[in-house]
Amino acid sequence: MAGPAADPAAALAAAGAAAASLRRELERHAHAYYVLDAPTVPDAEYDRLFAALQGLESEFPALATPDSPTQRVGAAPSSAFAGVTHRVPMLSLNNAFSEEEVVAFDRRAREALGSEAAIAYAVEPKFDGLAVSLTYVDGRFETGATRGDGETGEDVTANLRTLQAIPLRIDTTLSLLEVRGEVLMRRRDFARLNEAQRARGEREFVNPRNAAAGSLRQLDPAITAARRLWFYAYGVAGGADQPLPADRHSALMDWLAALRFPVTPDRATVCGVAGLLDYFAGIGARRATLPYDIDGVVYKVDSIADQQRLGFVSRAPRFALAHKFPAEEAMTELLGIDVQVGRTGALTPVARLKPVFVGGVTVTNATLHNEDEVRRKDVRVGDVVVVRRAGDVIPEVARIVPERRPPGAREFTMPVACPVCGSAVARPEGEAISRCTGGLYCSAQRRQALLHFASRRAMDIEGLGEKLVDQLVSPAADPGAPRLVRTPADLYRLDVEQVGGLERMAEKSARNLVAAIDASRRPTLARLVFALGIRNVGETTARDLARHFRTLDALMAADEPALLQVPDVGPVVAASIATFFAQPHNREVIDALLAAGVAPQPVVAMPVADAGLGVVAGRTFVLTGTLPTITRDDARALIEAAGGKVSGSVSKKTDYVVAGEEAGSKLEKARQLGVAVIDEAGLRELLAQE
Ligand code: IVH
Repeated sequence: MAGPAADPAAALAAAGAAAASLRRELERHAHAYYVLDAPTVPDAEYDRLFAALQGLESEFPALATPDSPTQRVGAAPSSAFAGVTHRVPMLSLNNAFSEEEVVAFDRRAREALGSEAAIAYAVEPKFDGLAVSLTYVDGRFETGATRGDGETGEDVTANLRTLQAIPLRIDTTLSLLEVRGEVLMRRRDFARLNEAQRARGEREFVNPRNAAAGSLRQLDPAITAARRLWFYAYGVAGGADQPLPADRHSALMDWLAALRFPVTPDRATVCGVAGLLDYFAGIGARRATLPYDIDGVVYKVDSIADQQRLGFVSRAPRFALAHKFPAEEAMTELLGIDVQVGRTGALTPVARLKPVFVGGVTVTNATLHNEDEVRRKDVRVGDVVVVRRAGDVIPEVARIVPERRPPGAREFTMPVACPVCGSAVARPEGEAISRCTGGLYCSAQRRQALLHFASRRAMDIEGLGEKLVDQLVSPAADPGAPRLVRTPADLYRLDVEQVGGLERMAEKSARNLVAAIDASRRPTLARLVFALGIRNVGETTARDLARHFRTLDALMAADEPALLQVPDVGPVVAASIATFFAQPHNREVIDALLAAGVAPQPVVAMPVADAGLGVVAGRTFVLTGTLPTITRDDARALIEAAGGKVSGSVSKKTDYVVAGEEAGSKLEKARQLGVAVIDEAGLRELLAQE
């Protein structure tokens, strides 16, 4: 393409065509968003198109037209409602996405006020709903309007009257008061609404904000009433006919609260830029637990006199700033769908994406959950998709953009053979998950099984992380090299030389790993059972099984009726335990573990009712120092399982102090009081005596 310098006329024509197409696209999206309350693209995408058009119009001023979407704020009111001209325009806020922008905002405000001192700010959540203005005449709610284009909004008085949160009468001597705030739908009510929509086979809302907008802009107020909308006040427009009884924004909010307007409890006042950033971080951390959606926070200079001095620049106040969270949704292209195999063989379709910045990070993969979800969302390879990453949640493909589907977009089918080991894939009737039937024959399952086996709550092998497991399972450097580890039992045969021979493995780390593996040889039975990775057997069930059966042999010999005797074990869990131990390859792994010297500690379970019969039952123990082979938590579990009690401090009532290395003052105290002191071996002897 010729550059603009080469042929200005051609460049102008090309820019004109691009601008026209951007305008058409923006109009379509704006209509879907504002009129239909069914957005077609994420906000960030709309903003991008909008900025592109603005860019073209400023580069080629000849292209600017009065009806361009860039020439109005928000959307014109829909014709369904009567128009209301705002007495005071409803403006918008300047946005900041970075700390630097917040620092610059604060600096500009201090410069304009000619003050070195830190500014006092009122800080509030930025509610993700829609702005409304409520006019009270002689204390009576008279008119309620949406923001519309900022100058003229829609008259939604009848609908707003149905909101329990909005007072219809207020106790004030002001003859005119205009309260501004946000109408929103709280998350719980949103979930309930969508459930009902689903049950009726009606369209679900994409998010609480669109649900709030759709519910408020109903021609039948009875529908609005049924939708449970909420309102939070965040300001007063200059419409009051007498001075307001507050000289600070925060005091104004207190006054509104006293008039029975809902004001968020999550607001605060802070000092200076450090205070602003602290508040931002604090709310960010609590965001997921708030009862309503927010898309950032709003900072406002607290002093109303200072607000007036700072005034407005173009269409936004200079005294306030919206500090926004990174967008949680973004659009990108779906390049392919991979299938990942988990520890239990579950196959998860994972979207491979053209890298996209969303939720503050660059995302290249997103989960598609399972086959049914792929169908429900009608996701096809080649589609333009909306990716969502909220907080620390795993990124997911939220939905597709149907009108952007390219011809030939490919449907997804679950493979019939495991993509890693080639074993058959099974999807039992009534289940959503397809699984590889290869078990530990499948290297993907082996890898996950090893990671689980070594994890902190299982065998607790420090230093055995993903990279190392990958190398042990399939040496990357030389694919032909023998695999050092096929099953967890192989770990116990590794020596320093073998581990040291792996890529990027210093001798010291190799020694540490071998020592950590060695130290894991005496787990509690509960940890070992949990470590085996039996489906449906979590930590708690593993503990119950250990307590009930006491030895691995007894557990392995148990049939389903015997397993059902264990408290909290139902048919599904019993079946999966029995199936696990019935598989010869699982038995082989267990035999190999035992042969390699892994020996679960005996469990001496003494029912509390029998207290007094056993040596441990009914006795009080205090644990101190480092025990040679088990952690204090494990020792506690053993003692409690045997009906004993563990206390944190030594007294005359203490029966035994179990002391390990570097035991300190508790050991001293025991000696002073003449309490019996034993070591780990002594404890084991006690536990073994029934
Ligand atoms: S104060 C001059 N406070 O953000 C504008 N606005 O971009 C004064 N919003 O349309 C607005 N929470 O819908 C203010 N705590 C809050 C807010 C808030 C959400 C929205 C409001 C407005 C938009 C401005």
